[in-house]
Amino acid sequence: MSEHGWRTGTSTGTAPSGPSITLSKGRSLKLPNLNNMFLPFFRSESHQRPTATFNSWAADNCSDSKSHQYIHLNVMDLPTGMSGTGGGSPTLLCTPLMGTTVDQMEFDPPRDLDVLIKSSPLPTLVTYRPVWEGGQYEGDEKKRQDALRLAMQLGANYIDVELEVAHEFNNSIQGRKPDDFKVIVSSHNFHNTPSIEALGNLVARIQASGADIAKVVTTTLDITDCSRIFHITIHSQIPTIGIVMGERGLISRILSLKFGGFLTYGALEAGAISAPGQPTAKDLLELYNFRLIRPDTKVNGIIGKPVGHSKSPLLFNAAFKSVGLNAVYLHFLVDDVEKFFNTYSAVDFASGCSCTIPHKEAALKCMDEIDPIKIGAINDIVRRPDGTLTPFNRSLNGSATAIGSPLAGKLFVVLGAGGAGKSLAYGAAQKGARVVVANRTFKRAKELADKVGGQAMTLEEFEHFHPEEGMVLANTTSVGMKPKIDDTPLSKCLVFDAIYTPKLTRLLREARDSGAVIVYGTEMLIHQGFEQYKNFTGLPAPEDLFRQLMEKHA
Ligand SMILES: NC(=O)c1ccc[n+]([C@@H]2O[C@H](COP(=O)([O-])OP(=O)(O)OC[C@H]3O[C@@H](n4cnc5c(N)ncnc54)[C@H](OP(=O)(O)O)[C@@H]3O)[C@@H](O)[C@H]2O)c1
Repeated sequence: MSEHGWRTGTSTGTAPSGPSITLSKGRSLKLPNLNNMFLPFFRSESHQRPTATFNSWAADNCSDSKSHQYIHLNVMDLPTGMSGTGGGSPTLLCTPLMGTTVDQMEFDPPRDLDVLIKSSPLPTLVTYRPVWEGGQYEGDEKKRQDALRLAMQLGANYIDVELEVAHEFNNSIQGRKPDDFKVIVSSHNFHNTPSIEALGNLVARIQASGADIAKVVTTTLDITDCSRIFHITIHSQIPTIGIVMGERGLISRILSLKFGGFLTYGALEAGAISAPGQPTAKDLLELYNFRLIRPDTKVNGIIGKPVGHSKSPLLFNAAFKSVGLNAVYLHFLVDDVEKFFNTYSAVDFASGCSCTIPHKEAALKCMDEIDPIKIGAINDIVRRPDGTLTPFNRSLNGSATAIGSPLAGKLFVVLGAGGAGKSLAYGAAQKGARVVVANRTFKRAKELADKVGGQAMTLEEFEHFHPEEGMVLANTTSVGMKPKIDDTPLSKCLVFDAIYTPKLTRLLREARDSGAVIVYGTEMLIHQGFEQYKNFTGLPAPEDLFRQLMEKHA
């Protein structure tokens, strides 16, 4: 998709202001301000000129078409190996950009390509994707290929052509290819990610078609699908772009650098992605420290479903960068935690994992060592150098410490008996609180209460519970506010909510309005983060940095 291009053209998002390219008939195509995103890095870290690109994707017909026209520009970044950090792979970052009025533009290759390519501050990749490969071009095939050949003659650096016509196209340009011009031959699978053997055969076919660079784009049904694409990019004989589309495929895009992918894509803004699961270039660069990823980078992450909302990558990646640690922390959208650990079993993969809904308990089964605290849920997992997985619950102390108030002798009511509930109940009991666990499913409340020497009740029973002065109420259910406590004298309590998106939940807002002391879920995140960071890295956590980041982003 930018990878096929056409989706970007349908977006209504607007590009950040920057220079524009003036085309004929008073039309213009706005470019983003490239300096903001790329040049400061080049100046401060590499002192090199950017090697790559402006990139035009026209996913529709030529001037004779009345239908929508799409033009896509891609900015390709410096190879990471030139970043000055040493040892990086040469993966390029390619950013599909688009004009705000693209849908109204009449794109005429002979007239417009010259301007587009010559105006590009960076090298150019041109794709003109037909409907039969997931694009929107429905016109004459010869005209389409003519446009690609024209782009080559006009100085485009890369052409992306589909495997089905690659032989024909490559034969047609034989002996006419400029020195710095390369043909990317691509294949898109919108249903699944085939076996390693099938993918290997596919890359062999692409190579045999005369490709300079192979591009294999598949669809993810499970996060483990990405492992097969990693295998392909590492073992291909020619430079290969490997992308797994969809939210579960995000790691295939971020870890291109680790596994030798030739190029990865990052959208200029969230609303302008050109393929499902595509991150923004900003997130790649700033959230995931894309430039710092190398083949030997340790991969950590948070395992959950859903997981995209987690702020842990923000905290950990900033912390890794601040001390120059060769590690990255990702969102792992996992359906089957056992399959995940069985597939990603290398020592430098999933080397430190936080664990959240709904896997805190299921993850226990994958551990090689027994949970020393035995509360039946895991917060963090560390892979030892021999590959074995060890659960940790040290961040339990962090959870209860997050409350910030002395707990000894206090009544501590935990709503919920899942992973977060267990952490808090255990931590509060350790600190000498009298624990009450109220949960929708009484059996789970009872099991937890028995473990921590507390009392169990259902959420309905809690509605009639008589609170006492100084009581701490901690919500760890996954609902915004349950049970309703409108009429309870909250002013006598300290109310804590484990939820941190949003930071101020309805429960906390109402508790605050009634005069109760409130503690945000971000406190738990930060305090657990301190402990997890120590577990994963052996280093003390940069506490001030964590706090500053949460202040800024919560
Ligand atoms: N601030 C932090 O650092 C932090 C850390 C971890 C988690 N959290 C947050 O805490 C919340 C829970 O996470 P978790 O890992 O504990 O999840 P979990 O293990 O899946 O447990 C969910 C809990 O919520 C209860 N629940 C779910 N739906 C409910 C409903 N409709 N009505 C009443 N109760 C319901 C469940 O009750 P049953 O037993 O009856 O199913 C269970 O007790 C999430 O919002 C998560 O983001 C925050």
